[in-house]
Amino acid sequence: ISIGLLFGGASEEHIVSINSARAILQALQIGNNLCKYNVIPIYIQRNGVWISGKIAEQVLQTKQALPLVLLKKEEKFQLWQFPTEVNQIDVWFPVLHGPNGEDGTIQGLLKMMQTPFVGTSVLGSAIGMDKIVMKTIFSQAGFPQVKYLTLEYSKLFSNAQYYSQLCNDIRTNLGYPCFIKPANLGSSVGVSKVSSHDELEIALKNAASYDNRIIIEEGIIARELECGVLGNDIPKASVVGEITFESDFYDYKAKYKDTSSKIHIPAQLPNHIIEKIQQMAINAFTTINGRGLSRVDFFYIEGTQKIFINEINSFPGFTESSMYPELWIKTGLEFHELVDKLIELALK
Ligand code: DAL
Ligand code: MG
Repeated sequence: ISIGLLFGGASEEHIVSINSARAILQALQIGNNLCKYNVIPIYIQRNGVWISGKIAEQVLQTKQALPLVLLKKEEKFQLWQFPTEVNQIDVWFPVLHGPNGEDGTIQGLLKMMQTPFVGTSVLGSAIGMDKIVMKTIFSQAGFPQVKYLTLEYSKLFSNAQYYSQLCNDIRTNLGYPCFIKPANLGSSVGVSKVSSHDELEIALKNAASYDNRIIIEEGIIARELECGVLGNDIPKASVVGEITFESDFYDYKAKYKDTSSKIHIPAQLPNHIIEKIQQMAINAFTTINGRGLSRVDFFYIEGTQKIFINEINSFPGFTESSMYPELWIKTGLEFHELVDKLIELALK
């Protein structure tokens, strides 16, 4: 079968996607020795243009985004110049993180093409990408969450009272420190930890450079736990993993650059907590109408044994050392078996 490996993407998580796709390609090549797959890599540039062939292969090899291949002027209004290989693909593997890839947009396009694809479809992907919608739905479904506020950045300038009301709400409802996050992004891009009112404005501006819709969350002292989900109608949960880091919070640098950030699998926890987290992970997955895979992230307060759901990621980081594949390796599925399983689930 021909696998369309889609990666890169018009997203701030472009490089993370290239790294994930490279690891998945290597796993597919193990399958290839058994003549199982014909892999067709397709690279989506930061400007949204799709490129196949040598350039796509080169990006995967070098793990670097290449200079943009620009569209000719007269082609400008054609959204994409689809490579001809698109017609040969039996299953798509959209290895894309963040907006324009993990948020239902590509999933809608693939659905229109009537070709099966790995992972969650339009609705679940869109819910998972938008932290405000996700939190609203989780709250409706009864999941415990940390306290949060939402805002539209543009309103700060059209309504004089909006900002003072916001400051007041943060002080009385959340307190400091709190976290400022753009509603639509991943890998902590645009996220700031704000320790006092003085740092608020700059953090809001930073988040707003990625999304007009912003979420402000209460900062709590808790352990950070993650659980993998795999399946369609009867999804399974992996063992539970934990993240530790020395930076102030688990930001982009801590995620991808600091060697002091570590993952621990399985996390040392009482059995009843593990079971609760696994059940919550599966419930979160079914709540958003997940398919294939997701990683669900939690906060855990040891003293009170309280568990809060943080978020669901419909296409979690998938590099050689990422939490999601590591969780499944420790649960008993090798990396290439996991990739095989995802393709099998896409075809069901
Ligand atoms: N958004 C990144 C890739 C993750 O959730 O792992
Ligand atoms: Mg995320």
